[in-house]
Amino acid sequence: MTSTAPIAVTGVTGTVGRLVAQQLAERGLALRLLARTPARAPELPNSTVHPFSYNDRAASVAALRGVHTLFMVSASESATRLDEHRSFIDAAAAAGVGHIVYTSFVAAAPDAVFTLARDHFGTEDHIRASGMGWTFLRDNFYIDFMEELVGGDDVIRGPAGDGRAALVTRADVAASAAAVLADPPSHAGKVYDMTGPEALSMADVAATISRIRNRPVTFHNESVDEAYRSRAAYGAPDWQVDAWVSTYTAIGSNAMAPVSGDVEALTGNAPQSLAGFLAANPR
Ligand SMILES: NC(=O)c1ccc[n+]([C@@H]2O[C@H](COP(=O)([O-])OP(=O)(O)OC[C@H]3O[C@@H](n4cnc5c(N)ncnc54)[C@H](OP(=O)(O)O)[C@@H]3O)[C@@H](O)[C@H]2O)c1
Repeated sequence: MTSTAPIAVTGVTGTVGRLVAQQLAERGLALRLLARTPARAPELPNSTVHPFSYNDRAASVAALRGVHTLFMVSASESATRLDEHRSFIDAAAAAGVGHIVYTSFVAAAPDAVFTLARDHFGTEDHIRASGMGWTFLRDNFYIDFMEELVGGDDVIRGPAGDGRAALVTRADVAASAAAVLADPPSHAGKVYDMTGPEALSMADVAATISRIRNRPVTFHNESVDEAYRSRAAYGAPDWQVDAWVSTYTAIGSNAMAPVSGDVEALTGNAPQSLAGFLAANPR
């Protein structure tokens, strides 16, 4: 495959995939944009749009034939996500893709405290076994949604205790991914932890939102039982409630606390902090 082969990008109708596609286009690279709803794909130079979904093998193989490098954005959370990921990875291998860059999760493991990180481990495992080259970008929790955790009563509730997480912005994940995708051989077989510049407790998150937004946000450290009870009213399936609650217990475990220098090493820029993100994005 020549270096002029297009780079395939999934998730282009979402935040991370769209930013990655835009940055690759700015570098003058040819792209294949894979989308479930092609009409919602961004219009970018030197790019073509291809209908697909992770569980549509025929469409995925057709969209990926002639591609060497693929950016695979993890699918929306669902009970069938891991099966869909495996199906797409098999399609990529069948199409002759040489290298997958996948958005995984910090501390991905079969027994990860954050239940959705188990899907990410299963996906990494399947990619490793596929014979294709790979690079994993293991994302911490996104800074971008911290403000959405604040309830209508200005309280963030969850069983996170004093644990910390090195939260990262979607934009820093996307810039790191673009750097890897522009030069995949330099990053083959590497796992990068996508973190922000500091590890914050949920009390720190509440205090930072209070300071920047001039709003009195506090953190209430629920017990695990309390957390399940307070979320029961939503009537969500068990896997989803487990994911919501384990977002906090994972922070409480400090599995997501280590700060890595990987964003800066890949992009040349220091990652954005929660305070910097909030200040740059007025509500
Ligand atoms: N680290 C964190 O804190 C955190 C938080 C939330 C999510 N995530 C994960 O990070 C990923 C990227 O984040 P984001 O902010 O860019 O998400 P996003 O804005 O929701 O975009 C997700 C993208 O993936 C596509 N997609 C979802 N399921 C798919 C499937 N089964 N087949 C094909 N395409 C599918 C969506 O397509 P449609 O437009 O067709 O739906 C969309 O383009 C998410 O998908 C999720 O797995 C991480």
